Amino acid sequence: MENKLASKEAWGSRLGLILAMAGNAVGLGNFLRFPVQAVQNGGGAFIIPYLICFLLMGIPLLLIEWSSGRFGGKFNNHSTPYIMDGMGKAKVWKYVGVFGIFTNIAVVAYYTYIESWSLVYVLHSIFGTFESMSQSEVALFFTEYVNVLTTSTGIPFEAVFFYVLVLALNIIILSKGLGGIEKAAKIGMPLLILFGIILAVRGLTLGESGKSDLFPDANALDGLNFLWTPQFDSLANPKVWLAAAGQIFFTLSVGMGTIQCYAAYIKEKEDIALNAVSAGFLNEFVEVVLGSSIVIPIAAGYLGLDWVLENAGFGMAFQTMPFLFQQWGEITAAFAGVFWFGLLFFAGITSSLAMGTPWMGFMKDEFGWGKTKGAWSFGALALIMGLPTVLLYQYGVFDEYDYWAGTVSLVVFALLEAILFSWVFGIDKGWKEINEGSEIKIPQVYKFIIKYITPLLLLLVFLSALITPFQ
Ligand code: PHE
Repeated sequence: MENKLASKEAWGSRLGLILAMAGNAVGLGNFLRFPVQAVQNGGGAFIIPYLICFLLMGIPLLLIEWSSGRFGGKFNNHSTPYIMDGMGKAKVWKYVGVFGIFTNIAVVAYYTYIESWSLVYVLHSIFGTFESMSQSEVALFFTEYVNVLTTSTGIPFEAVFFYVLVLALNIIILSKGLGGIEKAAKIGMPLLILFGIILAVRGLTLGESGKSDLFPDANALDGLNFLWTPQFDSLANPKVWLAAAGQIFFTLSVGMGTIQCYAAYIKEKEDIALNAVSAGFLNEFVEVVLGSSIVIPIAAGYLGLDWVLENAGFGMAFQTMPFLFQQWGEITAAFAGVFWFGLLFFAGITSSLAMGTPWMGFMKDEFGWGKTKGAWSFGALALIMGLPTVLLYQYGVFDEYDYWAGTVSLVVFALLEAILFSWVFGIDKGWKEINEGSEIKIPQVYKFIIKYITPLLLLLVFLSALITPFQ
């Protein structure tokens, strides 16, 4: 027994664990999805539900997922179906875990596509492709790039090629196991934060100087004001609440089982409460501070808020930023492009790696598959799921994936795991798990919140998803 435990795979160090978990959470969601969700849901109106969802669902779910994962690891379970099976009494919980795995595959399918855009845009920034292009030319460049089937750029399958390449890169890193994930996070996270701070400072200091001759009414601060001026009237709109909850789950990476799978490799008596809460707050810092200080203010600074409101979407950052960077001079533009798209790439890959772990863990728990087989089979599934979003991007397939897999499924899974934790496994046992080895004292009120408030709110969000017609 000793030997079996000693030879178990584990995180190399606490720093490695924290960076990997932070890398998991900090992703494209922080820089692309958050600003867009905020803009589409009324700017300041979005922030209040968002923060409430963070405190009453986000933090509780983080605690649930970290502790469930470490609990499962004690029994050598490393995948959500096995971890959940070990906590519940009925077999159905195993299938809930399996459902979570498919969410990961559906999300990774479109997620890695954006990752591949980022990589391509790093290269184009270096080669100066966007020099002397007008705003509409930059926007058109993107449209042609993603309109794979009708492209006229001469390299029709550039998008498909880079998509497959980025997927392969993910697979190669995943097949190296935890060590590979840790290494990617150790390189990616510090660079991401550095690039983010540089760009955010630039975005925030753009201010009045962001006014351009082309759009004399534009002002960077308009973007920030729009995001941060609370508007209370839309609080009654269930669509805003659903979007806020969906964004909290997406950005914290809860509701998909990736956290459980990472946490299953934490040592039995090691702290999880402090780690979980710090990873959550770090993610929120990156999201609300850095995430709202780059795309929106810079775009609003040059193109005006109206343009931003009309064009908000995942692609907006690709359609605008290369042009806006040009206003800073050629050399600075190249650096800014590398920083921005490099940041997106690192944010993306450290998250998409996490989405591979539930599948790989399941193949290991169920069939004893090794890492290589697990990683390549994951890649094959992601490719099958991903090709429709790549090939049919212009028909809105991408947004459908993001709504069903990236929003609704997370809520469903989160609701089920909250019920499992508090009501099947039992909140007393669960609370003990959370506090075992803890380096901080989680306020007792959270025991109550986790048992009653979180499941109830999740239920409400789920019901509102049912009655809210797909936009
Ligand atoms: N949290 C990541 C982001 O903000 C996305 C993600 C979701 C990653 C679920 C892993 C699991 O982009």
